[in-house]
Amino acid sequence: MPTSFASPKQRTVFFCADCGRESPKWDGRCPGCGAWGSYTEVSKFAKGHPVGGIPLVMDKPQTLTDAALTPVKRIPTGLCETDRVLGGGLVPGALVLVAGDPGIGKSTLLLQIGANLAGAGLSTLYASGEESAEQVGLRAQRLGIANSDMLFLQETSTEHLIARLEQEKPGALIVDSIQTLAPQEAPLGAGGVMQVRESTLQLLKWAKTSGVPVVLAGHVTKDGSIAGPKVLEHMVDVVLQLEGDSVSSNRVLRCSKNRFGATEELALYEMGVDGLSEVIDPSAVLVSQRRAGVPGSAVTVALGGTRPMLAEVQALTSPGVPGSPRRTATGVDAARMVMLATVLSRRAGLRLGNHDIMVNIPGALRIAEPSSDLAVAMAIASCTADMALDPSVVFLGEIGLNGEVRQVPHLERRLIEASRHGFNRALAPEGLSTEFCANIEVTPVVTVREAISAAICR
Ligand code: TYD
Ligand code: MG
Repeated sequence: MPTSFASPKQRTVFFCADCGRESPKWDGRCPGCGAWGSYTEVSKFAKGHPVGGIPLVMDKPQTLTDAALTPVKRIPTGLCETDRVLGGGLVPGALVLVAGDPGIGKSTLLLQIGANLAGAGLSTLYASGEESAEQVGLRAQRLGIANSDMLFLQETSTEHLIARLEQEKPGALIVDSIQTLAPQEAPLGAGGVMQVRESTLQLLKWAKTSGVPVVLAGHVTKDGSIAGPKVLEHMVDVVLQLEGDSVSSNRVLRCSKNRFGATEELALYEMGVDGLSEVIDPSAVLVSQRRAGVPGSAVTVALGGTRPMLAEVQALTSPGVPGSPRRTATGVDAARMVMLATVLSRRAGLRLGNHDIMVNIPGALRIAEPSSDLAVAMAIASCTADMALDPSVVFLGEIGLNGEVRQVPHLERRLIEASRHGFNRALAPEGLSTEFCANIEVTPVVTVREAISAAICR
């Protein structure tokens, strides 16, 4: 009896470019993430196409007690600060995404990690779809790691890469970047939603079955989100963000997702002629270029995970166009800065209504915690009054809408860090324990108005 072998039936599906949601029909607004006009049409094979689902690799279930007793051996990357951010090194079988703007230093970081892993005796494969062997070789020369045992492969096809991995069986894999990798039958070429998703899925499957750590580089779009579907962030185990600005050589490595540890840790790096070097004492670097005696500068102590770091807050205010003052913030949340300016107007009597206000944290640092509110408010107040703050004072405290200065977590650790760097006075909320003892005089302040009188109008 003749058997008919029908060719795989092609059908069309739609993908949301933002969240990766799949739908059989086009929709103006994605029901998953609410994005408008994000649906892209792609054709896919009806059967056998590995589109969704994270592969399961356990043969049989085990109790959590047994699972907890299995020690996780972490692989050091050779960069102590990166290991600290990762929670102690790379976990075997983990998929780590290093995301950042183009030109920020992802390839440099990955190459340094790769050379370190190879130097520690782990066979490491660096697969690049972005650069040729010559280009990477030149960079390696610049970094002084050209004679490393690390293997290089230029590859843009996901299937070829996986086949090569089965052959070479490396102990660690680096992929630069996930956007340049595409399955061969990809309808839209590299970088599209489905390609990024499928390539990641195949790498994820390989990582989980082989137990080999995989580090991916990923670009960030203009609005700061990782290029490709959001689902990429859901699929990987760890997301590291490499941040910085074009004018500063400082780079901040922070962890925004970690299935194997905490996410608060951050590390400071400096981009030099021979690559990224770790900054062991970030406080010293972050306030080193501060000009004492200039109005509009206040120092606070931010907490980067478990590590306190001094940071300078700069503010510039100037009378603007009545009715439409401009407010811009770099390094602190813009909405929070506007809130603080309003609190200063309403609760401390500062006439900021029509003033343009700019706030900046130099050194590529971004402070998300409200503990720096008092420093932001004092920098604005100092610039508006055109009076410099005492350069040996640090400011700590969250500010509420009623103008009250509220508690900050780990106040004592922050004060100790400030005193270690020669600050001998602090304005901070009340409630310091009586046993606290450090070489720093703490003036408790209850309201922002009180803080202004204590630091400016003396
Ligand atoms: P790169 O790692 O290629 O960035 P990405 O992969 O994120 O696009 O780094 C690019 C920039 O870093 C480039 O402008 C040159 C600079 N750089 C240095 O300053 N020193 C160095 O040793 C290296 C390798 C790069
Ligand atoms: Mg690169």
